[in-house]
Amino acid sequence: MKNIITYIVIAICLISSIWIGINNNKEEKSNYSPSKKELKLRELNNINKKIDYFQDKNLDRYIAYKKKNKQLKIKDVIKRVNIGLDKPYYTATQKTPYQNKDYILVNKYIYMDENYIPNNLEDLEPSYSRSGMKLVKTAKTALEEMINAAKSEGYPIRVMSSYRSYHYQVSLYNKYVENDGKEAADTYSARPGYSEHQTGLCIDIDDGVINYTNFENSKSFKWMQENAYKYGFILRYPKDKTEITGYTYESWHYRYVGKEIASYIKKNNITFDEYYVMFIENKN
Ligand code: DAL
Ligand code: ZN
Repeated sequence: MKNIITYIVIAICLISSIWIGINNNKEEKSNYSPSKKELKLRELNNINKKIDYFQDKNLDRYIAYKKKNKQLKIKDVIKRVNIGLDKPYYTATQKTPYQNKDYILVNKYIYMDENYIPNNLEDLEPSYSRSGMKLVKTAKTALEEMINAAKSEGYPIRVMSSYRSYHYQVSLYNKYVENDGKEAADTYSARPGYSEHQTGLCIDIDDGVINYTNFENSKSFKWMQENAYKYGFILRYPKDKTEITGYTYESWHYRYVGKEIASYIKKNNITFDEYYVMFIENKN
């Protein structure tokens, strides 16, 4: 009998504590109202907890860009807004904080000063290029290695353009604008200060036979597609990435970023603009 009473008392205690628990929980739920920020983060599937390139200051821009680009994955919304693509080209521009680094990025939102001349510019050997070409030493060393490897396998590569000064880019851009108009020129030429050629880390190449604008149709292009990353070079303006790079496809323009970055970009099929906002911006 005593045992039965004990069991009954224990059962009553258990049932009442569960009951109280349920009711408290209900109360908490009914009193809780998420903040505006929490609601916005929910709209972005709380992606801020999964990636470290989420920037709180861009929250409203992410929401607005997502609304306009419903087909995009949320990660791509974050990357594109961080690049600046929710704003017109050449607006909200900023000067690069990474002068003289292999991972310097310039695009339609990030520029170099008029008087920026990279350190360690060296002349390219005439056997590798047209005369008078210069490149930053690290890129030059990697380029020579790459061209020698390509040549030994039967794929000739010649440099048609490399470092260009700010003032050279002024004359080039003005000539394009005069010929094609500003809108068209902006699709294929960088404005002065915004050209990767001023970094001394990129090259325009051909195979010595075909015009460089047709480089895509050469065997050397195929070799570059398979091998450039091994020497630290990337195709900077790919065909299927024009929305991100802001430039039409350039099969001839390669950028030196070093082997580690080049391998990641190749493996993950992303642009340098994306790599930069994911791993470089605000981290060095
Ligand atoms: N053609 C490339 C985008 C440049 O002008 O730098
Ligand atoms: Zn180029």
